[in-house]
Amino acid sequence: MTERTRFDLPQDRIPSAWQNLLPVMAGAGIQLLPPLHPGTKQPVTPDLFAPLFPEQLILQEVSTDEWIDIPGEVIDVYGLWRPSPLHRATRLERALDTPAHIYFKYEGVSPAGSHKPNTAVAQAFYNKKAGARRLATETGAGQWGSSLAMACSFFDLDCLVFMVKASYEQKPYRRIFIETFGAEVRPSPTSTTQAGKKILEENPDSTGSLGIAISEAIEVAATNDDTNYSIGSCLNHVLLHQTVVGLEAKEQMEMAGEVPDVVVGCVGGGSNYGGLAYPFMADRLRGDRPNMRFLATEPAACPTLTRGRFAYDFGDTGQMTPLLPMYTLGHDFVPAPVHAGGLRYHGDSPSLSLLVREGHMEARAYSQNEVFDAAVQFAKAQGIVPAPESAHAIRGAIDEAVAARDAGESRVILIGLSGHGHFDMQAYDDYLNARLPEVEFDPAQEEAALARLPEVPIG
Ligand SMILES: Cc1ncc(COP(=O)(O)O)c(C=O)c1O
Repeated sequence: MTERTRFDLPQDRIPSAWQNLLPVMAGAGIQLLPPLHPGTKQPVTPDLFAPLFPEQLILQEVSTDEWIDIPGEVIDVYGLWRPSPLHRATRLERALDTPAHIYFKYEGVSPAGSHKPNTAVAQAFYNKKAGARRLATETGAGQWGSSLAMACSFFDLDCLVFMVKASYEQKPYRRIFIETFGAEVRPSPTSTTQAGKKILEENPDSTGSLGIAISEAIEVAATNDDTNYSIGSCLNHVLLHQTVVGLEAKEQMEMAGEVPDVVVGCVGGGSNYGGLAYPFMADRLRGDRPNMRFLATEPAACPTLTRGRFAYDFGDTGQMTPLLPMYTLGHDFVPAPVHAGGLRYHGDSPSLSLLVREGHMEARAYSQNEVFDAAVQFAKAQGIVPAPESAHAIRGAIDEAVAARDAGESRVILIGLSGHGHFDMQAYDDYLNARLPEVEFDPAQEEAALARLPEVPIG
């Protein structure tokens, strides 16, 4: 019999509750610091979020319950593509001549092509229920904008997407995908918001960044009663919704009869990796799997976890969000326009940042060519052309598999393959024609941006 390489769950095994890691972290003595009010520097009260988010999402953001039921209407939409498959990458294992077993949880099967709809659908549902008419958001790679546009059309909401200008120009088909669902797309920075105008005055050629696009979307939500803000990553409730990925993967790894030694993912704001890793991390924090390793990967051009500072900082460039305790390169740090647009974020999820700081997660940064070398190797072995963001995770996993081979060890590696790269052909074309320019991280820019961090002590 041929070796089994797919581990599929039936539709009735879509998880019925999301898993909240925060109480598990607290139980292990890892206490998340509260977000602070940008003016008073005191812990924020939930009402500060009320102009932006519906009550249910605010409650989830601060919940101390480990399990939160998924509404039936959300599970019904998840059923369009969930449970997503777990594959064993035996062809890649053979290509690498490694004794390691490599598995990948593939979120590219969602209609938008990534993990992002897992939270987009939940957020659209709660907003509709709370009476919002429109959602405003940012998008880096276009995956989040696509997902929210789709979710809004399912729940009959209008949708406005500020798309980072670098991606808007690199990926016209992503823009058209978003517009197909009836959403409006604006290349950020725009002159339609105060935050955007300010950036354009300082730098008319700005290619934008997630931090800038977030400011624009928040401004629209804060100044329009019928509009709420929706965020694609970073915050607790977003990572919470993404735990369907890890909960399914745990069950699928059991079907495969293996336990991962290392769980690898890419980190922009932390949502796909948190979603995959946290159900496994709960076992580590409880002492059931103390040796399970976690590897977060990121671009060398935007090395938040590996070179950033753990500090209180704004989530956006325009300084409108509460101060979040996280690894940051500085809220006005603008990363070079690498092809992995979804990883160009100056900050990271506070919970994930804390896990790195406390030594429960490792982090590694990779250059563009290292990432695309891995992407093409993976595509040739497994047939899937990964999103440039996801290819960072593949790079990390290949390095783990090669290290296992060199050490003559077996190792079970689980990759979060967060999306496909079908809208990223320009990036592949650039790489295939003449390798990519190695856009350098600029330490001087980081130093200057860190000097502008708000002065708030952090434990
Ligand atoms: C395919 C894909 N993977 C990963 C990311 C990074 O975001 P996060 O860290 O929230 O998963 C993005 C963001 O746009 C993405 O599109």
